Amino acid sequence: MMKKPLIQLKNINKFFSVGKKQQLQVLKSLDLTIYEGEFIMIMGKSGSGKTTLMNIIGFLDRVSDGEYLFNGEDVSKLSENEKSEFRNKYLGFIFQQFFLINSLNVSQNVQLPCTYGGTKNKQTKQRIANNYLSLVDLADKGKAKVTELSGGQQQRVAIARSLVNDPLLIMADEPTGALDSQTGKEIMEMLQKLNHEGKTIVMVTHDADMTKYATRVIHMKDGCFTEEEGNQ
Ligand SMILES: Nc1ncnc2c1ncn2[C@@H]1O[C@H](COP(=O)(O)OP(=O)(O)O)[C@@H](O)[C@H]1O
Ligand SMILES: [Mg+2]
Repeated sequence: MMKKPLIQLKNINKFFSVGKKQQLQVLKSLDLTIYEGEFIMIMGKSGSGKTTLMNIIGFLDRVSDGEYLFNGEDVSKLSENEKSEFRNKYLGFIFQQFFLINSLNVSQNVQLPCTYGGTKNKQTKQRIANNYLSLVDLADKGKAKVTELSGGQQQRVAIARSLVNDPLLIMADEPTGALDSQTGKEIMEMLQKLNHEGKTIVMVTHDADMTKYATRVIHMKDGCFTEEEGNQ
């Protein structure tokens, strides 16, 4: 079966201005196609351009030149509002530091993307949140305070939150970076399970132990892709 391309980056470059006249090239002629159902891992040392690339894929930053198609749509033709809408509707985000809101309970945190997405009905939001909390084995924690949870539990809340709008793509930036190795393993197994159930995932890491969970690993150095390995 032909897989559908979800992300198509064609010969993209990214420059940042540093000082008055200098331009720093951070991404160099990158070509990348991410197909539905892949679990892509982007590996590289600090400063290699991983976050810049993730910001572009996540519509937070734009390419300097080259083409970015998301699900067939030319991203350069989208307005800022359309990009925010795409972000909320089609992408789920997981971060190293979880970024949960401590003043909200667990269920309210999971409901946040539904709220932004226009689902206003309280019962509907609670039902959706409960559903995803069960999926990450936290069905009984909906009313708990975020600060009562362990790091691993907090990251599972963040995973539930990332899933709540049933996004086309999950983006994870060092999701195990703040966790001990056993908890990190549990989080990776959860992401792998989601991938096996069909979710497309792109994750950034500098930890070579993580690559076994990916279907494809892309190595980055100084703004270039240096090698690629497939696991399946
Ligand atoms: N807004 C910016 N302005 C200037 N330089 C930047 C900016 N963002 C990132 N850089 C530079 O781009 C390079 C790649 O950064 P980054 O994408 O954060 O790498 P990584 O996530 O792999 O550590 C670094 O040299 C960094 O200093
Ligand atoms: Mg980074």
